[in-house]
Amino acid sequence: MTDVGSDIESPPAVITIDGPSGTGKGTIARAICNWLGWHFLDSGALYRVLGLVVRRDRLDPGDEAKIGSIASKLDVSFVRMEEETKVYHDGVDCTLAIRTEECGITASRLAVFPAVRKALLRKQRAFRSSPGLVADGRDMGTVVFPDADLQIFMTANVDERARRRYNQLKKKGIYASLADLSKDIEERDERDATREQSPLKPSPTAVILDTTVMSIQEVTDKVKILVRNHGLT
Ligand code: C5P
Repeated sequence: MTDVGSDIESPPAVITIDGPSGTGKGTIARAICNWLGWHFLDSGALYRVLGLVVRRDRLDPGDEAKIGSIASKLDVSFVRMEEETKVYHDGVDCTLAIRTEECGITASRLAVFPAVRKALLRKQRAFRSSPGLVADGRDMGTVVFPDADLQIFMTANVDERARRRYNQLKKKGIYASLADLSKDIEERDERDATREQSPLKPSPTAVILDTTVMSIQEVTDKVKILVRNHGLT
């Protein structure tokens, strides 16, 4: 006899890691991806590429219709390397170019537009494929993958996040002052958390992890325990 139930395939597993900038979510998401052998979605990179295009082409950052239309056609691809994920826009490597603070600030200004979020929603969901996906961002658990198998929301105090961002940028050869970074991060968090569409907030089912006094290894170990406890290995 045919088991009719087996014809209904459940979608590939998803782990979401959300939180403000500098909490270490990208680093942890990558480590968990490598450990599980799953796919990785750095959703912030999509918004940053859009920011890069707007800055490069000197477009009006207030023209929602035009930017929404560009977002719907945005050609972004990711190539996973050992240490980092390369980001390509129209086939051109923009991995480093999108990491500047200016690009992050423009990205967060464009991210308030419903037309932009709608255009990028489909693109983000298309990353869900077997054997599974780890997605990091601001609204992965609340909006993009509300049915995720495990949702994590990372926090850390702003000074620690600015320090982490400073070291991260320095490693990439991008220099910024710690005081400026702190100010930028606070402004960006405020905008991300108070926007009407998909504001930065934990979903009701998210596990909250305050990483202020935790090392990368400690956070990674903690997340691995959560992954195991959710039966995802
Ligand atoms: O994570 P990252 O700092 O690269 O993101 C850049 C900006 O893109 C964020 O400050 C936020 O405004 C926006 N973003 C978003 N939703 C996401 C990911 C990023 O609004 N899922």
